[in-house]
Amino acid sequence: MKIKVSASILGCDLANLESEIKRAELAGADCIHFDVMDGVFVNNISFGLPVLKSAKRVSKLSFDVHLMITDPERYIDRFIDYGADNITFHIEATENPEQCIKICKEKGASVGISVKPATDISVVYPYLDSIDMVLIMTVEPGFGGQGFMASMTDKIKALCKKIKEQGLSTVIQVDGGINEKTARQAVLSGATNLVAGTYLFRSDDIASSVVKLKNSACR
Ligand code: DX5
Ligand code: ZN
Repeated sequence: MKIKVSASILGCDLANLESEIKRAELAGADCIHFDVMDGVFVNNISFGLPVLKSAKRVSKLSFDVHLMITDPERYIDRFIDYGADNITFHIEATENPEQCIKICKEKGASVGISVKPATDISVVYPYLDSIDMVLIMTVEPGFGGQGFMASMTDKIKALCKKIKEQGLSTVIQVDGGINEKTARQAVLSGATNLVAGTYLFRSDDIASSVVKLKNSACR
């Protein structure tokens, strides 16, 4: 099973964004995970469109944009215009999930739906055949550096079962508190795409940390 690693720049040294992105790229990360927070949907504000545009210019990696914003349908097209290759929006943040999916497809981006820890995973089931990925939050969205919620593994397993039953290839991504130990729990439960911020960017040897995450199932 091929595991992908999405490096969350929320956990990097933002004063040196270009070199941090290059560090992740050279280490073998598959994507740059770009967390957008509006101070409304979550209790924090991060970065947005102009930063995405600049960051995109200095990297060949694909950009995986995680929108933690209310009514994401207002901004999805602009995030794609500014360089998002994938958009993941929160199901709790919109009354128009179909519209969010449609905008992504029309503009040629892949699309994911994310669920907060308290959200029942069955809410994404109606959309599984029209999206590329489901992001299961393994911490409360808003901040890096929190501890992995082990109870989320049941959710990952239930989703994995549903995807298999339907014969789909929807990717399961996890985000929050991922390190070499928790990655193994997530991967054994069915996740194949791991977001990691603190673990990667605080590592003295980021390349070996990426390898450890990718080999999670084999240890
Ligand atoms: C949290 C963000 C995460 C965050 C993960 O709301 O969505 O992407 O950067 O950070 P770590 O890996 O430090 O838990
Ligand atoms: Zn994220």
